[in-house]
Amino acid sequence: MLYIGIDLGTSACKFLLVDGDGSVRNTVTKEYPLAFPHPGWSEQDPAHWWQACLTGVPELLAGFDAAQVAGIGVGGQMHGLVALDEHDAVLRPAILWNDGRTAEEVAFLNGTIGREKLSAWTGNIAFAGFTAPKLLWMRTHEPERFARIAKVMLPKDYLVYQLTGVHATDYSDASGMLLLDVAHKRWSGEMLALCGLTEAQMPKLFESYAPVGTLTAGAAAALGLPQSVTVCAGAGDNAAAAIGTGTVGEGRCNISLGTSGTVFISSDTFRVDPHNALHAFAHADGGFHLMGCMLSAASCNKWWMEDILHDGDYAAAQAEIKPEALGRNHVFYLPYLMGERSPINDTNARATFTGMTMDSTRADMTQAMLEGVAFALRDSVEVARSLGLAIPRSTLCGGGSKSPLWRTILANVLGLPLDLPATEQGPGYGAALLAMAACGQQPVQDLARNMLHVKETVEPDPALTALYNARYAEFRQIYPACKTLFANLAKGAV
Ligand code: XUL
Repeated sequence: MLYIGIDLGTSACKFLLVDGDGSVRNTVTKEYPLAFPHPGWSEQDPAHWWQACLTGVPELLAGFDAAQVAGIGVGGQMHGLVALDEHDAVLRPAILWNDGRTAEEVAFLNGTIGREKLSAWTGNIAFAGFTAPKLLWMRTHEPERFARIAKVMLPKDYLVYQLTGVHATDYSDASGMLLLDVAHKRWSGEMLALCGLTEAQMPKLFESYAPVGTLTAGAAAALGLPQSVTVCAGAGDNAAAAIGTGTVGEGRCNISLGTSGTVFISSDTFRVDPHNALHAFAHADGGFHLMGCMLSAASCNKWWMEDILHDGDYAAAQAEIKPEALGRNHVFYLPYLMGERSPINDTNARATFTGMTMDSTRADMTQAMLEGVAFALRDSVEVARSLGLAIPRSTLCGGGSKSPLWRTILANVLGLPLDLPATEQGPGYGAALLAMAACGQQPVQDLARNMLHVKETVEPDPALTALYNARYAEFRQIYPACKTLFANLAKGAV
């Protein structure tokens, strides 16, 4: 049999065709635009996601027997607010995970309502990208539209709806709405009331590997698939990537160096970070996880190379960085191009280059940018370590993991061996495994473990790690020194 895994990303939708042995038989990528209508805002039209499926799936199936397709799973960018009216029409462009417009709503939730209550109700506090603050924003700024909301859902749920006609979500993705009582896997009545919603406006909750339904006649005809194809609930992209990298059960770690950068630690039981710097979410394997998320990771590289340097040759730019320069760079970079989530939770934070001198080179700055992202990921790893969580090693996935230099920098900044899975397609691959589990192939944890093949391990070098420890201690001083300035700059901008 064949299974389709869909990764609904921020810049593109990736489609994977996987056979029953877990081999990837075909991949297709369809890009779509991302809109920044105001500084710090980030939106996308859900119609583009579905359009990507309508062209991507038939292209994926070309040359294969579509009758062999048994299941579809979708992993998607988390937290995005998709609001539908009573006819299931989209009410406004989706407000995405890296949108920073809700500083006031976050201050209200964390300050006036209080972090303790939020954490007791949901396991988490408010962050600008989460869905609940966006609903509060919509209620204040777009009251007519807000009044017409019949269903609230997340980006990948919109695709599952288009495929099956069912309003469904899964626990891993729903965790990031700040509307789910994560520990008890049910909607939080307190949070729904606070946002002016009822449970009838929420999608039905499923485990990620549970079948939600089969294709509608219209979707089957449009995609060229049999109507009998099972669609599972799917997962948030980080949980899906964790499934795809064997990060299941107790105490395993996966780091994703994608548009966002995440540190994902799986666990069998529900745990909360007492300071709520790490998110306490449900996992797609039926368990839970703690996660730190930085908003701009590989996107810093894209911004620096394409928008600033107008240079698409990433490998050549990185080749200019001499191995002996690692751990000795005098230039530092703060990677907060879209504000920052974990662990500082500051929408006002901005990116900076610091420490240049007359002899600083373009290579030093490129190196600083790669290192700054690694240091910011270490911030989340350090929070996990401070909670007593042992992280002996991690898998690494996401577009940035393709760079051997970035992998080396990251392994040494974190002081961790990093395992690279042979199948690079993180969330899409995990989504295909969820579809396999939904079709009854094997329990999802077994599938995730059995399908992981490590193609290479990047071992840290103790001498270089020591150098990076010293650089990290310096990096840690930059944000506190800039924090008040960032807040003042944000005030001046409004
Ligand atoms: C996780 C998060 C991002 C998006 C990226 O909390 O916001 O990783 O899921 O797609």
